[in-house]
Amino acid sequence: MCGIIGYSGHRPAVPLLVEGLHHLEYRGYDSSGVSFIQAGKLHVVKAAGRLSALEAKLAHEPVMISTCGIGHTRWATHGAPEERNAHPHLARGGSLAIVHNGIIENFQELRDELTASGCTFVSDTDTEVLACLIEEERKRASSLLEAFARALRRARGAYAVAMVAPEEPGTVYAARLSAPLLIGVGTGECFVASDVPAFLNYTRDVVFLEDGEIARIGRGGGSWELFRLDDLAPVSRATTRIAWDMQSACKDGYKHFMIKEIMEQPRVVAECMAGRVPADPARDVLDGVSLPELDGMDVPRRLRIVACGTSYNAGLWGARFLEKFGGIPVDVEIASEFRYRDPLLEEGEAVLAISQSGETADTLAALRLAKEKGRAALGLCNVVGSSIAREADAVLYTQAGPEISVASTKAMCSQMVVLLLLALYWGKRRGKKDDSALLTHLRGLPALLEGALPAMRETATHAARTYSGARSFFYLGRGPSYPLALEGALKLKELSYIHAEGYAAGEMKHGPIALIDPDFPTFALALRDEFFAKMVSNIEQVQARQGRVIVLTQPDSCGECGDLHADVLWMLPSCHSELASFLALPALQLFSYEVADYLGKDVDQPRNLAKSVTVE
Ligand code: F6R
Repeated sequence: MCGIIGYSGHRPAVPLLVEGLHHLEYRGYDSSGVSFIQAGKLHVVKAAGRLSALEAKLAHEPVMISTCGIGHTRWATHGAPEERNAHPHLARGGSLAIVHNGIIENFQELRDELTASGCTFVSDTDTEVLACLIEEERKRASSLLEAFARALRRARGAYAVAMVAPEEPGTVYAARLSAPLLIGVGTGECFVASDVPAFLNYTRDVVFLEDGEIARIGRGGGSWELFRLDDLAPVSRATTRIAWDMQSACKDGYKHFMIKEIMEQPRVVAECMAGRVPADPARDVLDGVSLPELDGMDVPRRLRIVACGTSYNAGLWGARFLEKFGGIPVDVEIASEFRYRDPLLEEGEAVLAISQSGETADTLAALRLAKEKGRAALGLCNVVGSSIAREADAVLYTQAGPEISVASTKAMCSQMVVLLLLALYWGKRRGKKDDSALLTHLRGLPALLEGALPAMRETATHAARTYSGARSFFYLGRGPSYPLALEGALKLKELSYIHAEGYAAGEMKHGPIALIDPDFPTFALALRDEFFAKMVSNIEQVQARQGRVIVLTQPDSCGECGDLHADVLWMLPSCHSELASFLALPALQLFSYEVADYLGKDVDQPRNLAKSVTVE
């Protein structure tokens, strides 16, 4: 998704803007650009492709001493990913430049109106329309601030936008509606950005913008102000200090962020449990967590989970534990489907929105819909201060640290931990006995994972070499392994572009098995749980049709693999049967990672994908 950075301060702006854009690369992009004001004139430099293309162009620019500017990485929504459509966009009279993240839904209507009044456009973007609209409004407004607000009031959709104009050379204006934007407050300098890493080398003091607010930075040496979009009334807000540093956003010597994030899952599990799984068995799990009263009850009568992608798979996994340990009926829905129905939510039903970024447009809309319908809305997020976290009635954080690789890995692991704890927490409140054996094993999980990961990586590397030539893959699982099969297939396709489908293993015989032949391998999850024997039969059905199989399994109580035979018999350590998913998940992630790396794919930024999907 697009990345925005703006700067006003005492240092040369352009190097800071480019540095900020590098720190936003994880969001995915296809072109980039910067704009700054020098000698009273607006300059725009942009390039299609990687940031290095922009840097090469900037190297040919005359010395840039401007201390104010905006920058952008674009992930195409309107118009092809080419330089013409890259941001910043100028208003045709050259009076201002803007960068924008999101979609202006009524842009065609606005474009027609502006065209009729004489505007011409050089790009296909909704952003250029917005720039021209601000310029038009400036003719009627008493100030640039008012023109900015008047134009934004006419825009429908979602946006984060930043603007510079020679009329006020040291000032950046910015605004948000359903897209992330925040201010970084330094000493004598301020930033606006889509995310904290953009300016974390310079300040940790942050001001979160709310929907329908305008920020103005840089008036009077590093100052910042907030205004309400509707009436321009000033808004006061305290700064928040961000705890994590840039170090945690670096690769730690790994080749890619993705492998670093997979390998740090033992720590992620430990940190996710910190303060939530007390050493003292007399104290409750999630002790001290304040969840809202749910229609007068402290446990929902029913739960609806809404999420997208990997977070949806985590929700599907968590549902069976919330039912089993929490005793709560759970439905799991893809957020983009939920939001466009008129879902019937029962009295006492709560909605849980799961999102790593906390900014996914469909999940945010689903959460808002639940609130509109008067239901308690809970959030399970990784990014602190994100839109879902702020709008939910209560939020549980996964505490996984920044996830930079576009493909989600450690976030899912941490979501699973929290969902399991939530199930135990609600179960206790409903008078179910808590499973202290499970908790003891959960406490031992980080060490178990830590010990298992190096061997897993070796097996993954070996299997990846053998199977990277496959054109299609099945992933099969039952019970808790079914959502993992979906996740394994999602990871393989998004990283290596190999077609992969996840199936509930029992569904194979209802059609998909027709595809099995020696060139269509299967990745089967046969963990030591109640579904093991059934999975063995499913694997045999595949093998009977000459299908090659990788089996992810665990030894039986005698340390044997029993009757299982496979082309790759991938042994995970034995563990409490309810926790086996925590071992299987990194194995699936590692396999996809190693296949993609072996095939030379762009692991951290797969094609066509974005980290934070703030459009529908
Ligand atoms: C897959 C992946 C996506 C996200 C999805 C939801 O690896 O990263 O499928 O899981 O876009 O994102 P969040 O969790 O941020 O709402």
